[in-house]
Amino acid sequence: MSANSPAAVIVLAAGGGTRMKSNSLPKVLHEVCGRSLVGHAVAAAEELTPRQLVVVVGHMREKVEAHLAAGYPAARAVVQAEQKGTGHAVRTALEALAADGVQLDGTVVVTTGDAPLLTGGSLEALVAAHTEQGNGVTVLTAVVPDAFGYGRILRDEADGAVAAIVEEKDATDAQRTISEINSGVYAFSAKLLAEALGRVTTGNVQGEEYLTDTLGILRELGHRVGAVVAGDYRDILGINDRVQLAEARRLLNDRLVERAMREGVTVVDPASVWLDVQVSYEPDAVVLPNTQLHGATHLGEGCEVGPNCTLRDTRVGAGAHVSNTTADRAEIGDAASVGPYAYLRPGARLARGAKVGTYVEIKNSELGEGAKVPHLSYIGDTTIGEGTNVGAASVTVNYDGVNKHRTVIGAHCRTGSDNMFIAPVTVGDGAYTAAGSVITNDVPAGALGVSRAQQRNIDGWVARKRPGSSSARAAAAAQGGAGEAGEA
Ligand code: UD1
Ligand code: CA
Repeated sequence: MSANSPAAVIVLAAGGGTRMKSNSLPKVLHEVCGRSLVGHAVAAAEELTPRQLVVVVGHMREKVEAHLAAGYPAARAVVQAEQKGTGHAVRTALEALAADGVQLDGTVVVTTGDAPLLTGGSLEALVAAHTEQGNGVTVLTAVVPDAFGYGRILRDEADGAVAAIVEEKDATDAQRTISEINSGVYAFSAKLLAEALGRVTTGNVQGEEYLTDTLGILRELGHRVGAVVAGDYRDILGINDRVQLAEARRLLNDRLVERAMREGVTVVDPASVWLDVQVSYEPDAVVLPNTQLHGATHLGEGCEVGPNCTLRDTRVGAGAHVSNTTADRAEIGDAASVGPYAYLRPGARLARGAKVGTYVEIKNSELGEGAKVPHLSYIGDTTIGEGTNVGAASVTVNYDGVNKHRTVIGAHCRTGSDNMFIAPVTVGDGAYTAAGSVITNDVPAGALGVSRAQQRNIDGWVARKRPGSSSARAAAAAQGGAGEAGEA
């Protein structure tokens, strides 16, 4: 905990989010780059190591509370049953803390649950300026190209200090021309915040308790009101609808892709590569176009992923190649090769140098070192030993309609093309199976498993049954130009 650690961060996330037009998802649970909007706010807040981290919830609060409990246990949800304004929301949070005997002493940071581009670094700079300048309150502002909808920063003509904030709906036409806006993020002296909130009224167009009124109130009481102007206005963008959600995703993705490149990853087409915040990588990984990496996906050194891959929570080993592949919770070993057109499902684990080829689906199965499933196959609930090759068009028949069963194929096996392995079944080390076999019984180590009918040929069948056909003519020609009927 640094010297600047605030007493509390309060994240406001109770609002309705009406402009998202969602019947089922509260605004702050919409996702940008693999993290919810409120998750971004909490993650930025956590970088300040606050003594208290409160999220004010209200609209669809059960969903938001469950989400916080599951992913952000350090955040404490406080319920604002009715959304009576941002000032009321902060007051509710302070009252909940006081009811628990928590004394706030020092700085309280208030931030919003709908600004996913705001970084911990921006919050740190705000708190540092607040402390250094000895302010009663410091607001994070930005100069924006389109200020519509935001609260405007009114500055004193004489000294340029922040005098008050006026909301769009309450502003005069002259005030609406101001392009410096309130981000909705502030650092307050804890004591002055409580005092100012006690004086906030609902005398405004929306009939709400505005947190923004505390700035004018504190200035009139003779306290210093400071402002930090964001270097890049895009850092403070608030999300109100799905168009802004997409804009924020684009901006955050640009940042994540840029960081990956600066850390040694080659991204051939940054515009068509999408990364989640938790994606990690090592130098010399190469990401080819149209590739989406989700969750805790990890790229090992020198691997190549893409084009056209969607990987979620998947580890890609050093030097592995993955192309045109969808993978979910898979482990791809060093120097392994996957695709094109492969589907790795949860629990697919490929050891070093293993190969999963074209039109192959793997689920809950291990492939040993150098094992290969090159073509047109389904492998589920299976263990394949090192150095084994599975023939094209093979299926492990793992499901009897009720239960799943395992197939075990040993090391250095050569299984034939078009095999069905009826699980549970085991093929021993070094065994072979014949093409077209349905393997229902275990094959001992070193044996050849064959299960197919003897072939018989009925001579002259085409000439008799398909006279005059192109097949009959071709057959006749092959038999040395004899008449079409040939010899009976
Ligand atoms: C607010 C600010 C405005 C600023 C803008 C920045 C006020 C009065 N206005 O306006 O100056 O430019 O944010 O985005 O503060 N919330 C609650 N409880 C409530 C009301 C809101 O928790 O009763 C939460 C919302 O979920 C949201 C945040 O507070 O996360 C801001 O509320 P919102 O209604 O979006 O305020 P704006 O009109 O955008
Ligand atoms: Ca807003």
